[in-house]
Amino acid sequence: MSTYENLLFESEDGIGIVTINRPKALNALNAATIHELDRMFDELAQNDAVKTVIITGGGEKSFVAGADITEMQKMSAVEGRNWAKLAQAVFSKIENLPKPVIAAVNGYALGGGCEISMACDIRIASEKAKFGQPEVSLGIPPGFGGTQRLARLVGKGRAKELLFTGDMIDAAEAYRIGLVNKVTVPAELLNTAKAMAQKIMSRAPVAVQVCKAAVNEGLDVDLKTGIAYEAEVFGLCFATDDQKEGMTAFVEKRPPNFTGK
Ligand code: CAA
Repeated sequence: MSTYENLLFESEDGIGIVTINRPKALNALNAATIHELDRMFDELAQNDAVKTVIITGGGEKSFVAGADITEMQKMSAVEGRNWAKLAQAVFSKIENLPKPVIAAVNGYALGGGCEISMACDIRIASEKAKFGQPEVSLGIPPGFGGTQRLARLVGKGRAKELLFTGDMIDAAEAYRIGLVNKVTVPAELLNTAKAMAQKIMSRAPVAVQVCKAAVNEGLDVDLKTGIAYEAEVFGLCFATDDQKEGMTAFVEKRPPNFTGK
C-alpha cells in the first residue's frame, strides 16, 4: 500500500483497517482526505490479501465530524456541486467494493461522517457514538449521499426528521431505528468489528460477494429486475468449488473448507 497523510492502514488475518486520521479536526473530510480514500479503495480492490475492510476514526472522540467546513465556507455553487460529485463517487466506490466493508463508529458520525458510514455494508457503533445530519444548520443539505442512503436505511419519515431537524442521536437510538447493526462498549468496538469480519470470511467468499452485489443492484431497480439478477448470481455460484464443498460438507456432516474458488 502507498503512503497516506490522513489515513492509517493496517492489515491482519485478511482484515484491512482504514483509520481516518485528522484528530485535530475530529477527522473532518477535507479534499485531500477524500482523494486519499479514493486511492485507498482502488488499492484495496486490487489487494488480494485483504478480504474485508473496517473503516474507523482516529482519536477518542470522533469517527468523522463531517465534511471540512473551513474548506466549504467560500465555495461557489459550481465548486459545491463538484465537491459533492467527487465525494459521492468515492463513497460509491466504497459501497461497491467487491468485499465487505464494516464501519466501526467510535464517536461523532456527523454529516459526511454519517454518510461514509452509510456507504459501508454494516455499521457497528460504540456506546459513545453520535449520529446526525446537521447540514441544515449550515445552510446546506447533505451532499455525500445522506438524503438518499439515510431514507433507504431508516425509512422516509425518520430520515426526514433527522434531515430537517439536524438533531444528533446516540448509538442506542441509531440502533433502535436501524441505522446501526450493533452497539458495543467502546473498548470492544474494534474486536466486535473484527469478529464479525472473521465470521463473514468463514463463509463462501463468492457467495458473500454476490449477496453484496445483489442487494446493492436490487435497491436501484424494481423487484422483478432485482430477483432476475438474483437468479443469475444464484446460478453462477453453482459453477464454484465452494458450492460443491459447502453442500458436500453439509451432507457429510462436517464444517466446510472454502477456498473462494
Ligand atoms: N470541519 C472542520 N473542522 C471541524 C469540523 C468540521 N466538520 N468538525 C470539527 N472541527 C474542528 C473544530 O473546528 C475544532 O477545531 P479548532 O480546535 O481548530 O477550533 C476541532 O475540530 C474540535 O472541534 P470542537 O472544538 O467543535 O469540538 P466539540 O467537542 O466542542 O464539538 C462537534 C464537537 C459537536 C462534533 C463539533 O465539532 C461540530 O459540531 N462539528 C461540525 C459537525 C458538522 O456540522 N458536520 C457536518 C459538516 S457539513 C457536511 O458534512 C456536508 C456533507 O454532507 C458532506
